[in-house]
Amino acid sequence: MTEPLQARLAEALAPIANPRTGASLYQTQQVRDIAVTTDGKVRVTLLLAAQDDPTLARQVRQALELVEGVIDVRVDVKAAAEVPAAPEKTRRALPMMETPQGAKTPAAPTPVAYPKLGRIIAVSSGKGGVGKSTVATNIAIALAKAGYRVGLMDADIYGPNIPRMMGVNEAPPVQNDKIMPLHAHGVKVISLGFLIERDQPAIWRGPIVMKILTQFLRDVDWGELDTLLVDMPPGTGDAQLSLVQATQIAGAVIVTTPQEVSVGDALRGGMMFRRVGVPVLGIVENMSYFESPETGKPLAIFGTGGGKRLADELQVPLLGEVPLHPPVLQGADNGLPIVVGEPDCTAARKLTAVAMEIAKQLGLRTPV
Ligand SMILES: Nc1ncnc2c1ncn2[C@@H]1O[C@H](COP(=O)(O)OP(=O)(O)O)[C@@H](O)[C@H]1O
Ligand SMILES: [Mg+2]
Repeated sequence: MTEPLQARLAEALAPIANPRTGASLYQTQQVRDIAVTTDGKVRVTLLLAAQDDPTLARQVRQALELVEGVIDVRVDVKAAAEVPAAPEKTRRALPMMETPQGAKTPAAPTPVAYPKLGRIIAVSSGKGGVGKSTVATNIAIALAKAGYRVGLMDADIYGPNIPRMMGVNEAPPVQNDKIMPLHAHGVKVISLGFLIERDQPAIWRGPIVMKILTQFLRDVDWGELDTLLVDMPPGTGDAQLSLVQATQIAGAVIVTTPQEVSVGDALRGGMMFRRVGVPVLGIVENMSYFESPETGKPLAIFGTGGGKRLADELQVPLLGEVPLHPPVLQGADNGLPIVVGEPDCTAARKLTAVAMEIAKQLGLRTPV
């Protein structure tokens, strides 16, 4: 029975061309592993190179959804191992998803487990300035307020702004060869910002990034945590890969603004995590809209729906849409994150809801 449906799927896929190469995704087997159940559920793999248009995933899904007899479509995006159009692009020695099961990638260091740190969550974004640190600090505090034992690690070594946002900035004490984290709003905090001169631009190369991350995981006296949130640098660079190589990451939360550019970068970020086996827990759309001070009505100033599109593309939940709210910025500048400074405003409530959803998804034990 699946024969004719298979043929119809092929027909639907054939006209979709990769704008980079001009070739049909189907003919070049960029869409592959087409699986169909008898009741019409379709699952395909789309191989995307870093340079490929990430919205191809949506095009493929939409084309398949229109095929008669199809009731559900799932597109699994995987990184293309070969990128013929840009051969000079260096490929990283990381376990790729298309590596056959059980095959070892020799160059990647073995991740070390830190069971006392609980579930480790990477808060990531494609671009800087979308509110990644704001989201990380506020969900950390919201979880702490709910009774969880929370650590916050500022891994944004290029622009560590957690100290300012959390209102702590001093050299952390060292005891028995361990770095003691600072405490702020019920959260244990460590940041490179504590260790380097303020406002000094930090330029760190891959191996140093790995060293710093490992130090923060291994040499900081975190005690026992339920969860450790890691504020990543923007993008899909060395720090992301280093973190994944350094330890076991329970999941990634991707922050974006509703703008398409931001979403495109964020999609690549999400795909990168997935490629290395880290589940994407969901999307937080920040600065989603502005509540008019006069009418209280939402005004979409950065466009709409980007977070939802990204969530659909990655087939993960949209964890929340956080409005642009000036006190969020003021709170961040004054070390008083919004969930502490103005806990009843919409932005704080949305951020708290995101935190609770993450706790639920990770199955964190109910705090006592
Ligand atoms: N929802 C929001 N409403 C108002 N200002 C915000 C909001 N989210 C973030 N900001 C502000 O935008 C700037 C960038 O946010 P930040 O969290 O530092 O981004 P990132 O860590 O992604 O670079 C900061 O000044 C922050 O206070
Ligand atoms: Mg930041």
